[in-house]
Amino acid sequence: MLRKLSPAPRPMTPPNHLLIIGGTGMLAAASKHLVELAHRATLVARGRDGLERIAQSGEARTLAVDYHHTDTLINELRAARREHGPFDLVLLWIHSTAEPTFDAVVDLLGEQVEACRVFDVRGSASTDPTSEVDRRREYANERVDYRRVVLGYVHEQGVSRWLTHDEICTGVLQAIANGAEEWVVGKVRPRGARP
Ligand SMILES: NC(=O)c1ccc[n+]([C@@H]2O[C@H](COP(=O)([O-])OP(=O)(O)OC[C@H]3O[C@@H](n4cnc5c(N)ncnc54)[C@H](OP(=O)(O)O)[C@@H]3O)[C@@H](O)[C@H]2O)c1
Repeated sequence: MLRKLSPAPRPMTPPNHLLIIGGTGMLAAASKHLVELAHRATLVARGRDGLERIAQSGEARTLAVDYHHTDTLINELRAARREHGPFDLVLLWIHSTAEPTFDAVVDLLGEQVEACRVFDVRGSASTDPTSEVDRRREYANERVDYRRVVLGYVHEQGVSRWLTHDEICTGVLQAIANGAEEWVVGKVRPRGARP
């Protein structure tokens, strides 16, 4: 059973066809909120249980696919788009081991005539995406309405810690509601104060 987020996320326009890749782990509560809101949703992860837990919140198609299998995933996403219409809101939490899949998803979205907003969630533990040339941003900009959500850390009472799942989910939903090109959850600087 997934908990409701507190504070409640800001209202946002319901997407017609939501796509979430990698939304069943730390992003589960945010995924649930978005699926409840969306007219239709397509959810990708490997584990069926996690997918089903979120899918039951709304009208969702689940694709239990390893995102390293790029061709399989893209074929499935094409089928979902044929059935439910173009994607208009996309949330991606795709590890860097699957860059070809990120590119293929962006290409797929770029084929659409309809506008599509893509929120790409990025960690900052090993690299600081805000301070380097970001190939994903460069690649996606020409094709889709790309926005980046960077997960930082929290520094309180002299101690640093990584974000909780609730903080990550609330931050991601704030980023989507706000629509900013770049949204940092917590802080990414100073780098030396990371946990
Ligand atoms: N700055 C921060 O505070 C920060 C930043 C990043 C991460 N973290 C922490 O790090 C933890 C671990 O992150 P995580 O990304 O490993 O876990 P996660 O968010 O719990 O899981 C990753 C998501 O991607 C899916 N996934 C993973 N590999 C996949 C694949 N090959 N094909 C399709 N879907 C795949 C997973 O589902 P399946 O496993 O079912 O496929 C799940 O939905 C998080 O729980 C979070 O607490 C913290």
